[in-house]
Amino acid sequence: GVNTASASAASNVIRKKLQGYVGFANLPNQVHRKSVKKGFQFTTMVVGESGLGKSTLVNTLFSTQLYPNKVVAEPSHETPKTVDIQSITADIEENGVRLRLTVVDTPGFGDFVNNEESWKPILDNIESRFDAYLEQENRVNRTKLVDNRIHACIYFIAPTGHALKPLDVEFMRRLHTRVNLIPVIAKSDTMTEEEVHAFKERILDDINFHNIQIFQAPQYEYDDAETIAENREIMSKIPFAIVGSDKEVEIEGGRMVRGRKYPWGVIEVDNEDHCDFVKLRQMLIRTHMEELKEYTNNFLYENYRSEKLSAMGIQQDPTVFKEVNPVQKMEEERLAHETKLSKMEAEMKMVFQAKVQEKEAKLKQSEEELYARHKEMKEALERQRQELEEKKKRLESGRPLTPEKSKKKGFSFNK
Ligand code: GTP
Repeated sequence: GVNTASASAASNVIRKKLQGYVGFANLPNQVHRKSVKKGFQFTTMVVGESGLGKSTLVNTLFSTQLYPNKVVAEPSHETPKTVDIQSITADIEENGVRLRLTVVDTPGFGDFVNNEESWKPILDNIESRFDAYLEQENRVNRTKLVDNRIHACIYFIAPTGHALKPLDVEFMRRLHTRVNLIPVIAKSDTMTEEEVHAFKERILDDINFHNIQIFQAPQYEYDDAETIAENREIMSKIPFAIVGSDKEVEIEGGRMVRGRKYPWGVIEVDNEDHCDFVKLRQMLIRTHMEELKEYTNNFLYENYRSEKLSAMGIQQDPTVFKEVNPVQKMEEERLAHETKLSKMEAEMKMVFQAKVQEKEAKLKQSEEELYARHKEMKEALERQRQELEEKKKRLESGRPLTPEKSKKKGFSFNK
């Protein structure tokens, strides 16, 4: 049966010791400090027919045996009637960065005589995870949202060299609006390089023809040339040609590598000339984990949510719409900027006025001083003039000396 999303979470998380370098310690470069403190959380789903190497790839991807007790499947007596959905969660740590990784496996997909609806339990599972999230969002107390949504779905294509099977097309067509699809060619070591190349083209043609949307890394204008080139390189390899192996084999010179040994040589998992495993891992773990999560949240989940709400006849309240309208945001920013500017202007005006007043006061003061001095000088001149006038009068009246001077010389003076 189909496990519900919540039941598979939280419980039985296993702690894993890494056996090699995985690369998610680089994640802090992708995101904000907040996520670093909380640790990262990522949920990926693997889908593909039985025996295409799904569990081997997961073990190879995370350099750890996530499937510890996997028993080689014995032909079971009871044939399961539907796709089973199982999930494993592991906490892995690298250079102090924690990653809670959940892998959702879908054994049974494509295993039946009639596979017409193989995609259905998987779609149901993905949507029930959306529902669980939506339900939490609608709660009053939404401080601790548990996110069990599938952030990426690695879809395994059998290395037939022909084209996509109807099963592949049907699955991707049904699921592409709900999950980030990452198609991979399984067991690509069973094909030659030319075959892989031609097969990739054929697959992309089919995907285009059926209008299937697979994950596309967004391009940002602010990305530097190196990042843009790296993204292009990764995207150019889709569908990734994969080789998985959790065993080490010896190559020339005695070095041990993860790979698969053949009479004619070794196919190395981590060698980019041999397969695209490194690129897939780089994208999932190092360069695009946050983008896969963002696209899941902002588009896939958001679409599901509004479809569901409108089906229920609920109109979206624009004030709670999570995606901020960019035009509105710009307008808000412009207003804030304008307010700031006019405040600055007012402040400058005030300072200017104060300065002017100060200057005016000073001018007035010196004007007064000047005026006072002018008055003083005028008075002094006036006094001089009067004195002179007096002298003149006396001279004219025949009295040569001023009274003071006559006194000094001993004359008595009669008025
Ligand atoms: P189910 O659990 O049945 O769904 O299978 P699975 O898809 O998980 O496949 P699993 O990883 O168990 O691998 C099946 C077989 O394929 C094993 O014998 C693996 O050793 C082998 N295998 C896995 N990956 C590769 C690969 O890249 N190339 C080749 N040639 N064989 C592989």
